[in-house]
Amino acid sequence: MPGAEPNDATPFLPDRHSLKALREAAAGCRGCHLWRHATQTVFGEGRKASRVMFIGEQPGDKEDRAGAPFVGPAGRELDRALEEVGIDRADVYVTNVVKHFAFEERGKRRLHRTPKRFEIEACKPWLEEELRVVDPEAVVLLGATAGKALLGPSFRVTRSRGQPIESDLAQLVTATVHPSAILRAPDDEARYAERRAFTEDLRIVAKVLA
Ligand code: URA
Ligand code: SF4
Repeated sequence: MPGAEPNDATPFLPDRHSLKALREAAAGCRGCHLWRHATQTVFGEGRKASRVMFIGEQPGDKEDRAGAPFVGPAGRELDRALEEVGIDRADVYVTNVVKHFAFEERGKRRLHRTPKRFEIEACKPWLEEELRVVDPEAVVLLGATAGKALLGPSFRVTRSRGQPIESDLAQLVTATVHPSAILRAPDDEARYAERRAFTEDLRIVAKVLA
């Protein structure tokens, strides 16, 4: 419940802001209630020297168990697209707006629940530090949650996808759908179209990095 618990990760930030120090401190974050039911903090992953940062929504079921971002089905879609457009994994830092898995239980299954505004705000200090330390040339916002969290509530994926977006987050800021949109496609044909559109949206990033 908002109000009943703290809603700010700031008190948990370490004195030293290296990626290693941030990751270790985030493991003990109690900045909002989401740590209670999740397995562990899922911090961003990638080298400090990464030239591009991909920002998703929150870890999914697989990520929660593994402790690493984008290692489940959505991550496979991301990897496939990166390979197709020729973006080197070593140049990529992947992270999420929210670092703990928010879910609803349906029997034994844990179903993704879109993080709430106060959870996003609570967790934002971690993302701000990641952006400051990695200082990527390009930022790719994956889906509406990431877009709204960083660019404001008027952000629309449909309007911005594959285009450069006016923002001082990085030299190039762009957006596309969340790769889970590909997984939700109702049939093979729709899945193929979603996959292709997602891949095309990343070409602008590949060009900047080339
Ligand atoms: N979806 C996300 O937004 N992030 C992950 O890490 C996995 C799935
Ligand atoms: Fe901290 Fe973010 Fe986890 Fe909330 S979701 S406990 S703010 S790391």
